Amino acid sequence: MQSDPTTGHYIMIADERFLNYAAREIAAIAGAGNVVPEYLGASVSVVKIGAEPEGLLARLREADPVFISMLIPVIGAIPVSGTDIDRIADALPGIIGGGHTFRIEAVKAGAHPDVSAKGIEVAIGERMERNGFRIDLASPEVMVYLILEGGRVLVASARACDTDDRTIDHFRLENRSNDRLNRSELKLKEAFAAFGIGGAMGRCLDVGAAPGGWTDFLARRGSGVVAIDAGLLDYRNLRAGRITVVEKVGGAYLEREFSGGGLGGAAPFSGQGPRAHDVVHLKGAVDDFGDALKGMAPFDLACIDMNVAPMESAGVAVRLAELLVEGSPMVMTIKLTDISYVERLDRIREALSARYSGIRIKKLPHNRMELTLFAVRSR
Ligand SMILES: C[S@@+](CC[C@H](N)C(=O)[O-])C[C@H]1O[C@@H](n2cnc3c(N)ncnc32)[C@H](O)[C@@H]1O
Repeated sequence: MQSDPTTGHYIMIADERFLNYAAREIAAIAGAGNVVPEYLGASVSVVKIGAEPEGLLARLREADPVFISMLIPVIGAIPVSGTDIDRIADALPGIIGGGHTFRIEAVKAGAHPDVSAKGIEVAIGERMERNGFRIDLASPEVMVYLILEGGRVLVASARACDTDDRTIDHFRLENRSNDRLNRSELKLKEAFAAFGIGGAMGRCLDVGAAPGGWTDFLARRGSGVVAIDAGLLDYRNLRAGRITVVEKVGGAYLEREFSGGGLGGAAPFSGQGPRAHDVVHLKGAVDDFGDALKGMAPFDLACIDMNVAPMESAGVAVRLAELLVEGSPMVMTIKLTDISYVERLDRIREALSARYSGIRIKKLPHNRMELTLFAVRSR
């Protein structure tokens, strides 16, 4: 099967809410005069870039953009008239190769009004399966993007193993998984993958923890978690060992233990931090628990997911830094209550730089109007 020359075309994956910012990032990386946006879509766009692919992709990695999730070179084009499913399905193996499981995502770039993108994906997938190809919608080894233009279909493919972990999250249909307490948990899972956080995390601090998705993720992995929130955690569904709830009553800390039947009687807080897999819920605002936190420090990871203005979260991160082991990671969401905050991310970097280094900010797949920041507690 013949392929059209497609040199210089790339599929850019970026959330449509932040497309302008992604376009600015690619212009800064490739040089504004070198970038021609050909199709801007909900999450998949096509750009033509006058730069040699290897250098470009290296510069992209180095620039560590916030809003561009992936840039994938177009590797083939199939000439078609109308929506010729059979022709596309028969030409694809010659372009993407075989021997792997795959998933197709079709994007209608203006043409083919008679059939939905989903319908095209299903029809092509079925025909390819009949020809011995294996589809895996949940966790494919190769993701294939088909951009249906008038007269031709552009093809790009990304192999999960060739790309970073963030890419894999784009491939996997995590939304349908039940192995989690809430959707929020996926944001922390993605942050762990994107920023290379791993291994046993020891003792973790989770600020803005209710209803407990991040706490569940951490405790399930064997960490001891100190969760802070005035709101209730979903104790019944937390996959943790011992769960202790601590409240400040008239200047004293009181603790109650949760068992299957509910919360037990109150007793003075022992001051003991959680052991592996256990959760201590400090029920109140983070600033109410200064002494208790000092007693349970040091922490090996701090997570902050408070629904407050970004500079307020940054202030909490700075105040908590002294409780963190040097070199330990900190993950914080930046809630874009005001979209113009995107222009002021440097203010957050600057505020944090007194106590943290290696600051990176990403729009992760499960972030909505927010971004995720990663940093390391510095000396
Ligand atoms: C988006 S929710 C957190 C979701 C949570 N990470 C999860 O996985 O379920 C934001 C939380 O921040 C909490 N919050 C806001 N200000 C806070 C403060 N000063 N101290 C502690 N928690 C706070 C709110 O009560 C709210 O429950």
